Amino acid sequence: MQKAMEKRRRCSNLLAVAALALVAAMLPPSGEAKLSPDYYRSTCPDVEAIVRAVVAKKVKETFVTVPATLRLFFHDCFVEGCDASVIIASRDNDAEKDAPDNVSLAGDGFDTVVRAKAEVEKECPGVVSCADILAIAARDVVAMSSGPHWAVELGRLDGLVSKAVGVAGRLPGPDMRVADLAALFARHNLTTLDMVALSGAHTVGFAHCTRFTGRLYRHGAVGAGAHAVDPSYDPAYARQLMAACPPDVGETIAVDMDPITPTAFDNAYYGNLARGMGLFTSDQALHTDGASRPAVRDFAGNQTRFFEAFKDAMVKLGRVGVKTGRHGEIRRDCTAFNKKIEASSRRLHN
Ligand code: HEM
Ligand SMILES: *[C@@H]1O[C@H](CO)[C@@H](O)[C@H](O)[C@H]1NC(C)=O
Ligand SMILES: *[C@@H]1O[C@H](CO)[C@@H](O)[C@H](O)[C@H]1NC(C)=O
Ligand SMILES: *[C@@H]1O[C@H](CO)[C@@H](O)[C@H](O)[C@H]1NC(C)=O
Repeated sequence: MQKAMEKRRRCSNLLAVAALALVAAMLPPSGEAKLSPDYYRSTCPDVEAIVRAVVAKKVKETFVTVPATLRLFFHDCFVEGCDASVIIASRDNDAEKDAPDNVSLAGDGFDTVVRAKAEVEKECPGVVSCADILAIAARDVVAMSSGPHWAVELGRLDGLVSKAVGVAGRLPGPDMRVADLAALFARHNLTTLDMVALSGAHTVGFAHCTRFTGRLYRHGAVGAGAHAVDPSYDPAYARQLMAACPPDVGETIAVDMDPITPTAFDNAYYGNLARGMGLFTSDQALHTDGASRPAVRDFAGNQTRFFEAFKDAMVKLGRVGVKTGRHGEIRRDCTAFNKKIEASSRRLHN
């Protein structure tokens, strides 16, 4: 009796495995996942309302939530794809968020996702990925700072890999030129127009002095005739930045990236570039370089056009490296793999 039941169970297990293999074979490979705005319609119909409520509360507590969440989404998608790999916490400090670029990822972005996940789990446990929650939250913070609103595609799984060593070379640096920025974005099927539109995210948020003091105090070659200040800065803006950021300032001081309307998601960023008020070399270059200047002028002159391009580009950004099938899971805790597979990050260190 016992034996017969066991046999039957084994048999149905086999069937289940065969069925799973069939389903897996039919699923598109990672990167071509079929995302859709109503992915959770039957499994978690209120997910967007739940996330929005958490984000609204958090934004009310601190505005930093807006830039922190938006940037977190960007960094997540550019390293290992949009799979919440950036949220993994590692005991050995060797996860994605521990890479040198992490200093700038404000804790409020992580906190927003973790809090939203907790609320979503109460309603629909084990159903919604952290990657999707981050995508929804990134959309919401833009809308909540008077930016555009768009339908977020959903259906991402959370990734199984998060390593600091995977970050180098994947994220743009503040000293990069347009050709290099464009090449970096092109790796993810994002055009120069997408890149210019996404850079408009710098209309909100803060940058640490160390990211641009080279432009204020050490511009050009050392020696006679060298400019100490990058001449592409508007002089009054440069003076303002020098006052905020003395030459040997530490990591603690940060300035608004859009000094005109720092807490509004608007097109002021592009108008600033035309006046020599781009904070980073990478910002100002968008106006200097002929490959990107037409888009900068277009967005500076018409906020609707910026919003349309930004929405399109965010949807495309959200499709980068999406995980499906055995390449992902629905994490229970956004900061840890379900099986705490930290082995993958440790392996790379050996
Ligand atoms: C185009 C190339 C880009 C470069 C070179 C770049 C570089 C930077 C740097 C150096 C900072 C300052 C970090 C700090 O000092 O704390 C920053 C901040 C920020 N970036 Fe970018 N970024 C780029 C594109 C993007 C994109 C595509 C997005 C989002 C769609 C984005 C969103 C943000 C936000 C919101 C902040 C402010 C973060 C905060 O206040 O916590 N950036 N970026
Ligand atoms: C950021 O990275 C540095 C080393 O690159 C590490 O010492 C620090 O703890 C990290 N910070 C966070 C908040 O993860
Ligand atoms: C790249 O973008 C184009 C145009 O937006 C789209 O048609 C194409 O399917 C995308 N390819 C990938 C691999 O995402
Ligand atoms: C701004 O762009 C939109 C979309 O292309 C267009 O409908 C509108 O007329 C433009 N507004 C101005 C003032 O040019």
